[in-house]
Amino acid sequence: TILVLDFGSQYSHLITRRLREFNIYAEMLPCTQKISELGWTPKGVILSGGPYSVYAEDAPHVDHAIFDLNVPILGICYGMQELAWINGKQVGRGDKREYGPATLKVIDNSNPLFKGMNDSTVWMSHGDKLHGLPTGYKTIAVSDNSPYCGIVHETKAIYGIQFHPEVTHSTQGKTLLKNFAVELCHTKQNWTMENFIDTEINRIRNLVGPTAEVIGAVSGGVDSTVASKLMTEAIGDRFHAILVDNGVLRLNEAANVKKTLVEGLGINLDVVDASEEFLTKLKGVTDPEKKRKIIGNTFIHVFEREAEKIKPKDGKEIQFLLQGTLYPDVIESISFKGPSQTIKTHHNVGGLLENMKLKLIEPLRELFKDEVRHLGELLGIPHDLVWRHPFPGPGIAIRVLGEVTKEQVEIARKADNIYIEEIKKAGLYNQISQAFACLLPVKSVGVMGDQRTYDQVIALRAIETTDFMTADWFPFEHSFLKKVASRIVNEVDGVARVTYDITSKPPATVEWE
Ligand code: XMP
Repeated sequence: TILVLDFGSQYSHLITRRLREFNIYAEMLPCTQKISELGWTPKGVILSGGPYSVYAEDAPHVDHAIFDLNVPILGICYGMQELAWINGKQVGRGDKREYGPATLKVIDNSNPLFKGMNDSTVWMSHGDKLHGLPTGYKTIAVSDNSPYCGIVHETKAIYGIQFHPEVTHSTQGKTLLKNFAVELCHTKQNWTMENFIDTEINRIRNLVGPTAEVIGAVSGGVDSTVASKLMTEAIGDRFHAILVDNGVLRLNEAANVKKTLVEGLGINLDVVDASEEFLTKLKGVTDPEKKRKIIGNTFIHVFEREAEKIKPKDGKEIQFLLQGTLYPDVIESISFKGPSQTIKTHHNVGGLLENMKLKLIEPLRELFKDEVRHLGELLGIPHDLVWRHPFPGPGIAIRVLGEVTKEQVEIARKADNIYIEEIKKAGLYNQISQAFACLLPVKSVGVMGDQRTYDQVIALRAIETTDFMTADWFPFEHSFLKKVASRIVNEVDGVARVTYDITSKPPATVEWE
């Protein structure tokens, strides 16, 4: 295992990710990790980049015990500056911030770190730089702006690089990371998702112990289902899953989830119908953020109430809460850049921990979405569920624009169901990242048969994206849109007109509210 110490760079997580692509296992821990408290011996240590200046008073520093491990060390950006700071303090502000591509010129081609690499583009993102070589080090690579683009200790395998090998803009960066792990640290390339399942099941069993019980919320989405299945494999019925039907789920969702999870996957699941409670609280509310807060708070309330009804066999209280947190959520929440502006409040179960005094279990916190899907397939979760589009916590409440009523939800649901059915029939579901129907709070005139109609408008949205931060609308064939529009107007009472949303994100968001 390679130990990655995280100094807070926005790219840190990509280091472990890249290594995993080569079946190399790496574990990322905060930069302040005490080596004596680690409990295992890494085969190598990587110090990540970070937003600080090593010379600043409050800058984070690494435990010097890493040097006593006598394993290879690689400092990336801030990590390199940290090595330089420890060995002569020749670090200071650069004349200008260097951000973007640069050309790496390798001086020492025979160095194992550069095996199979040649001069290539690398990605720079730094304000500080080395003003001289650290004591005992030599240069092995340069760039136009950086005489110390790559350095190594004269006698030990301690390396520093100014650029970020973990981002794809560094064209041979992956090779460099692999070289570090394989050529220098001699790690085995034997990490697989099957290993992950075994290790994680054991970790859960050890953490929970022989009698304690665990509770978790499922949504019908891939993350919570995969986490629940893993939990069930580990501790069986001592895991209690709860699906809260908030009245704004997709058409027949609660029943479908129950069938798949209980009958198909053997998960100990309770479905709680709280739809009236949610809809009553949403009465008269039109502000999107208020809707989100109401749904989030009501969810916590209902979940707690249900949790109290569960009586663990050991006679004690439930002790753990399962959460399907993925890696990207982790980085978002440990962002060192201070709170970013709230565009939309994403509701989660965070509040439950404080109120219920539960300990958190997050078996997916090291994984990315595609890895969770792979894991889901291995755990025998049905293909359709594994590849399901994401669905927001506040559900159809933010897809019924304006006031949310049972009738309005029903219209939006039916239209959405037809739309998704047709997308699947056309074989387009997996090409689209997310698709849904919104019900607009405006009426429009139409004609059906000889009758004048005056009914609402459905807006269809379908996007392609890799990270949901930016997105483009999906270019359907006109014949497809024609068919969907005709089916929705004919089959869903209350709809007179269908439109297709052709705005990208930004400037629009994915959801309409
Ligand atoms: P936006 O609308 O912010 O959507 O561009 C990006 C992604 O986030 C989902 N989304 C939410 N998910 N609670 C959630 O759990 C929310 O309040 C929420 N708002 C948006 C949205 O469906 C899309 O996948």
